[in-house]
Amino acid sequence: MTPLIKPVAKERLPLPTATSATDADVPRIVALNNQFSADGLTLPRTSEFVRTHLSDYRLVRGPDGSIWGQVALDEYSPSLCELVSLAVAPAAQGKGLGRHLITAAVDLANRRGYPQLFAVSLADTLFLGAGFMQSSIDQFPEKIWRYRAISRSELSIGKKFLFVRDLPPTPPRKPRKTRSRRPGVRGPRK
Ligand SMILES: CC(C)(COP(=O)(O)OP(=O)(O)OC[C@H]1O[C@@H](n2cnc3c(N)ncnc32)[C@H](O)[C@@H]1OP(=O)(O)O)[C@@H](O)C(=O)NCCC(=O)NCCS
Repeated sequence: MTPLIKPVAKERLPLPTATSATDADVPRIVALNNQFSADGLTLPRTSEFVRTHLSDYRLVRGPDGSIWGQVALDEYSPSLCELVSLAVAPAAQGKGLGRHLITAAVDLANRRGYPQLFAVSLADTLFLGAGFMQSSIDQFPEKIWRYRAISRSELSIGKKFLFVRDLPPTPPRKPRKTRSRRPGVRGPRK
């Protein structure tokens, strides 16, 4: 099989900034995600899912624009959000990109005002090292309910752990300043 990206040099990566995704990225996001779904490491995702959640993705790209890694947020409610679809291309693994993407997802979740972010994963060292605590799936009935409705595959893997990270409260947004009307300019007629 042709590799999705050229092998990344062995030396330490400078960790490029995680950026948002565009429509043109959809096929490559799906391909990278689904590369790991047969082993149950990621849930299979369709182009439709990715397109609908495009603004929830963060990507790390190589200098040629290829996707080295990706992560997404999946909202359950305004107070509950899951980190999903974390994947780093095999040639770029082991260089800190996974942790870097988790940080990008945490930042995005925090900016969006979620009080908590959770993830279901086999990668215990990765999530514990990124400030998550191990919790129990029983604490997240929304997750059990959603995947019971779609597929039992993720929950039935059994070895997966649930990790949760509390996010600091975001300061309330300042109300937008409204422009004062110029004197003499009248409002619309009633
Ligand atoms: C899991 C994955 C995202 C990690 O990405 P990565 O770039 O290789 O990880 P990093 O280099 O940032 O690793 C950071 C730390 O996490 C640890 N780690 C990485 N992958 C791990 C795994 N699968 N299990 C446990 N620990 C892991 C590393 O050992 C490293 O620890 P250290 O700092 O103590 O050395 C990547 O291997 C991948 O895409 N795997 C296939 C898909 C997958 O499993 N996704 C996770 C779904 S939640």
